[in-house]
Amino acid sequence: MSLLKNNSSNSNSFNNDKATLEHGQRAEENTSNFVYNPNHKLPIYTQRSRLPIYASRSEILYLLEKFQVLVLVGETGSGKSSQVPQYLLEVGWAHNRKMIAVTQPRRVAAVSLAARVAEERNCILGDEVGYSIRFDDCTSPSTKIKFLTDGLLVREMMGDPLLEKYSVIMLDEAHERSINTDLLAALLKKILKKRKDLRVIMSSATIDAHKMKDYFNVKERGNNNDNAAILQIEGRCYPVDIMYSKHPVDDYVKATVDTVLMIHKTNAPGDILAFLTGQDEVEECCRLLTEKLKTFSSKTKYRIQSVPMYSNLPAREQLKVFQRAPSGTRKVIFSTNIAETSITIDNIIHIIDCGFVKTTVYDPDFNTETLTVLPISQASANQRCGRAGRVTSGKCYRLYSEEEFLKLKPQSVPELQRSSMAFPILQLKALGVSNVAKFDYLSPPPAKNFSRALELLYSLGAIDPKVELINPLGHQMAEMPLNPMFAKCLLKASEFDCSEEILTLCALMQIKNLFHVPSSGKEKMKAARVQREFYAMEGDHMTNLNVFTTFVNNRRSKSWCDKYYASYASLNRAYNIREQLLKYVQRFGIEMSSAKGFDDDKVLKCLCSGFFANVAIYTSRGCFKSLRDPVKSPDLFIHPDSVLYTVPFKSGTYVLFTETVHSTKMYLRECSVVKSDWLLEVAPHFYSVR
Ligand code: CDP
Ligand code: MG
Repeated sequence: MSLLKNNSSNSNSFNNDKATLEHGQRAEENTSNFVYNPNHKLPIYTQRSRLPIYASRSEILYLLEKFQVLVLVGETGSGKSSQVPQYLLEVGWAHNRKMIAVTQPRRVAAVSLAARVAEERNCILGDEVGYSIRFDDCTSPSTKIKFLTDGLLVREMMGDPLLEKYSVIMLDEAHERSINTDLLAALLKKILKKRKDLRVIMSSATIDAHKMKDYFNVKERGNNNDNAAILQIEGRCYPVDIMYSKHPVDDYVKATVDTVLMIHKTNAPGDILAFLTGQDEVEECCRLLTEKLKTFSSKTKYRIQSVPMYSNLPAREQLKVFQRAPSGTRKVIFSTNIAETSITIDNIIHIIDCGFVKTTVYDPDFNTETLTVLPISQASANQRCGRAGRVTSGKCYRLYSEEEFLKLKPQSVPELQRSSMAFPILQLKALGVSNVAKFDYLSPPPAKNFSRALELLYSLGAIDPKVELINPLGHQMAEMPLNPMFAKCLLKASEFDCSEEILTLCALMQIKNLFHVPSSGKEKMKAARVQREFYAMEGDHMTNLNVFTTFVNNRRSKSWCDKYYASYASLNRAYNIREQLLKYVQRFGIEMSSAKGFDDDKVLKCLCSGFFANVAIYTSRGCFKSLRDPVKSPDLFIHPDSVLYTVPFKSGTYVLFTETVHSTKMYLRECSVVKSDWLLEVAPHFYSVR
């Protein structure tokens, strides 16, 4: 028997969007939030008054009296996030029991900013200054400044549609254009019409803020006054010379290192900041530079110290980026995009820009979200360039020609336009938005993304043909901080007697890298050998379940993790997420049950009930094809990290996948073998027997 996509239903989808606990906040996973404070030895008052924003205090307050929306532009470290809420508090914006809210795209940033501001105000965290991130509320009735994730504010609107608790809402890091920032901007625009007392601050570290200002400046009948203003905090003031490469560069990693050596040879003073796309490239550059320096014959005035920078780097190592190099030494920082806006490094004179960035892209045809290396935008190139010239004039070496620069997109594509719309649509529906396609988005997503998401949600049973949420499933899925496909599995798991197992799998999907990968070949082999104990022939999902269960049975001990090269931090985070998801399941009144001793079929069948659209079939050509549309499907391969990588498949074998990776090929990374009968049983509307 073989399965055929049932074309009579209008529900087809092939989706791999990974909503994290707070949708759009996946980047913070395993990421430290390192903030460098060069003035930490000075008294707090002096530290505060030395920040660039201090001089703009009265202007900010004046503009907020006059305008409902203020777009505040200032580079990272100028004091926007920590100072503005305090200025507002000082002049009474938190009177009448109203609060000042500051949203962050990342959970860690919300917590650390709240701690910093509480310290500056000399109060206990959770009193006057608090934070609220999903599952962790550190506020009290006396809280006046509240840092929270943008995802949580969207959810707060479900209970408080006009956000009456707040007098001012600051959408911080607005330049990142996270999904939730975009949704909030649109929702707040509606609220502002009803609440003339409300103020909104869009804070941005890049200068292209006019779009945001224009978006909020809609003239109403009988009122021609602007509703929004821009304020730019003093920024870079020295010119940066831009040098383009004459010929196209075919290997930008090598070209980056060559450019470093070229600058070094000229004996021009100053530190170098080079932009690359990922940790692997950063490490490769450090290695290559060290190697080339061994045979570097030119006489130079300076020694070179190369420093890596990426978000997974431990805080201790990140500190080196900010420390001044000893005299006579030139610091060369190889960094991912993190140095574009998230951190500011002093004394950079030379910038090397490879012209690329790693970002998630959404393919509406196959409904997959995959990390891909893409050319940057002109705005990004200019922002990178501006990281020099802060102390004196600088130089920027672009590893592409001017012609190529002019061909780049003017602006980067916001996350909402390059993601699955499934979860955002559920949320907007839950917030009472009637026509989600015609909603007034800051940048409207492509029409195809809507139709794909609607198809998926319909086939999952979340919405009806009129695009209304189905009770209770649709409403519960909108509330669950999970990708709709996982949410569906979890909400249906009790019917398959395996809610304990699915709960674990949902939690494990939120973390990356269950295991550490040792760098030495010998250790790698040893790790693979000990980890084989957990391998389940069904695939990655049962294997991951084995790892987690054994970890818990071993009292979540660090030494157990060390023995198996498992990540203690990741597994504990999964443990906590699981506890929190359990609260949802209980609140929805769903019974907990277990396929004891792992009745694997039950667990996998339940996965099929949510991921029926993510199934691939092994073909005689030696690769998989999407079952949804084998003809149009790209060739799909099992990822080397999957336990199914070495399995000899027979044609006609089905695998279900919950994660894809796109590098040289399209890979299925988290996958399990499933049976066609199951698909017919759980998704008869989607598949029919050929
Ligand atoms: O938001 P923006 O990047 O403009 O600046 P900020 O986060 O308000 O930080 C201003 C300064 O406060 C930083 O340069 C640090 O000196 C200090 N700060 C800190 O020491 N610890 C934090 N968690 C946040 C800020
Ligand atoms: Mg900030």
